[in-house]
Amino acid sequence: MVEFPQAFLRESPGLIELAPSILSADFARLAEQVRGATEGGGTLIHIDVMDGHFVPNITIGPLVVRSLRKCTELPLDCHLMIENPDQFIPEFAEAGADWISVHQEACRHLDRTLHLIKGHDVLAGVVINPATPVDTLSEVLDIVDYVLVMSVNPGFGAQKFLAGSIHKIRRLAELRAQRGLNFRIEVDGGIGLETVGRVVHAGAEILVAGNAVFGQGDPTINARKLLKAATEATLQKV
Ligand code: DX5
Ligand code: ZN
Repeated sequence: MVEFPQAFLRESPGLIELAPSILSADFARLAEQVRGATEGGGTLIHIDVMDGHFVPNITIGPLVVRSLRKCTELPLDCHLMIENPDQFIPEFAEAGADWISVHQEACRHLDRTLHLIKGHDVLAGVVINPATPVDTLSEVLDIVDYVLVMSVNPGFGAQKFLAGSIHKIRRLAELRAQRGLNFRIEVDGGIGLETVGRVVHAGAEILVAGNAVFGQGDPTINARKLLKAATEATLQKV
């Protein structure tokens, strides 16, 4: 298992990481599935939190984060797809979240919410849906530790990759360079062997993958193959 200190990760744009999303895992064997994906090279565990309001699905809450905290040392990347995230951020942080991201679309006071996350000594991320432009983030790019670009409409696993995310990833990488910032770029939705090369070329560094890792077959082998394809794509970067 490769482990990187949080500060190193935050300051290392360009380093490719795989974040297996447990949304597609077998919840009755969660610890074993997480171990499998970790052996395959996953370096953070992506946890999709859905409330049935912000997105049309319900998943898990802080209790599951607390249990996962006991069975992995990897950072827990909590993607909050919920209304009023401020109400739950302290609870997720106490449960053991290391990274927390909130949707731009769900936050009326985004600046305040991001500072609330950081106040709990947790890395703070902001997420944009497919219909939300990168420009809406211009005032918070210097606050966040990472930006998550949705490449599907959030709510479900195993959806088709939306190619409109590519130019947003590229734009974020450009803005980061222009402004001398060091947030990392994460992409989520429809990432698999066919799409991973395109997002990596555009500048994505943290690759969330649910179905491609846990959907069928062995999570260890699946994760390893995906990471290999991603790493090869970085080597071909022009
Ligand atoms: C979708 C979630 C994703 C989901 C991705 O709302 O945010 O994290 O698990 O699943 P795949 O990789 O199957 O598209
Ligand atoms: Zn997610």
